[in-house]
Amino acid sequence: MTKIAIVLGGTGTVGSATTAAFLKESSVSKVVVTSRSQEKLDKLAQELKSGLGDDAASKVIGIVGNPNCEAGAKDMQAKVIAAVGDKIDFAVSAMGFGWFSHEPLATTSAAKIDEALKIQLYPAFEAWKVIMPLVRNAGGSYVFVTGGGPDMFLGPGTGGLTIAGSTSTAFAKVAMKETAGDGFISTEVSFQAGICRDPGVMPPSPITWLASADAGSALVSVALKRKAHVKTIVIKTQEVMTELIANGINS
Ligand SMILES: NC(=O)c1ccc[n+]([C@@H]2O[C@H](COP(=O)([O-])OP(=O)(O)OC[C@H]3O[C@@H](n4cnc5c(N)ncnc54)[C@H](OP(=O)(O)O)[C@@H]3O)[C@@H](O)[C@H]2O)c1
Repeated sequence: MTKIAIVLGGTGTVGSATTAAFLKESSVSKVVVTSRSQEKLDKLAQELKSGLGDDAASKVIGIVGNPNCEAGAKDMQAKVIAAVGDKIDFAVSAMGFGWFSHEPLATTSAAKIDEALKIQLYPAFEAWKVIMPLVRNAGGSYVFVTGGGPDMFLGPGTGGLTIAGSTSTAFAKVAMKETAGDGFISTEVSFQAGICRDPGVMPPSPITWLASADAGSALVSVALKRKAHVKTIVIKTQEVMTELIANGINS
């Protein structure tokens, strides 16, 4: 039987690599990619065509929507159901990379913190409320992508990143526990490293850089192999990434 995947935030660094990794799976017949921008979806389609060929790229269904509020999420859900029906086998949520404050919190406005939450928390939260039921219908798997901000950087000037990042990892953990017995698999994958297209070109830095192509393959392996239910998998090194790609879980 062929499977349906959705990548929330599928035009981004992590999301586009995840989309490409799903397209390489013969069991996956359609990959829904959500974005706020048709232009970004068109650009992704071109990249996938030149990288993977017309047949693979034709499996992608682009959907424009912004799930940063309830109404936006419901509108997105309606478009997804119209396109592929009300059962989704694999969902990877890779939206929003939080704003990084360089100001001390004492002079940071509430509006700036709100802006960070609007990028990092609300899209993941609202999209989960409308897409999780479709994954539950299929008994599928839902993968939350989070980051190491709250664990790695809790220092001066990091308030925007770490406060928003802390809420997104708290959301993922509670959401997994609240739906643990609902017949589908939930996993949080926390990248505690920098993810980019080519780590080889990054300047020396205190953080480890890992390739987005590997990040996409690791997320798809976790979704398809379904071995890490209600677990948080932390990726800090290439070794863990490689293990996840092979096994869908780390030891
Ligand atoms: N890159 C890293 O180094 C890294 C490291 C650790 C963790 N992570 C995590 O991985 C996830 C994805 O990060 P990324 O690097 O792929 O980020 P990115 O390149 O900025 O992509 C994020 C995508 O989210 C989408 N999005 C949809 N609705 C959004 C909204 N309301 N507000 C903001 N964005 C929205 C955007 O797509 P459209 O503009 O097309 O709508 C964007 O392409 C994040 O949760 C991040 O914390 C990333």
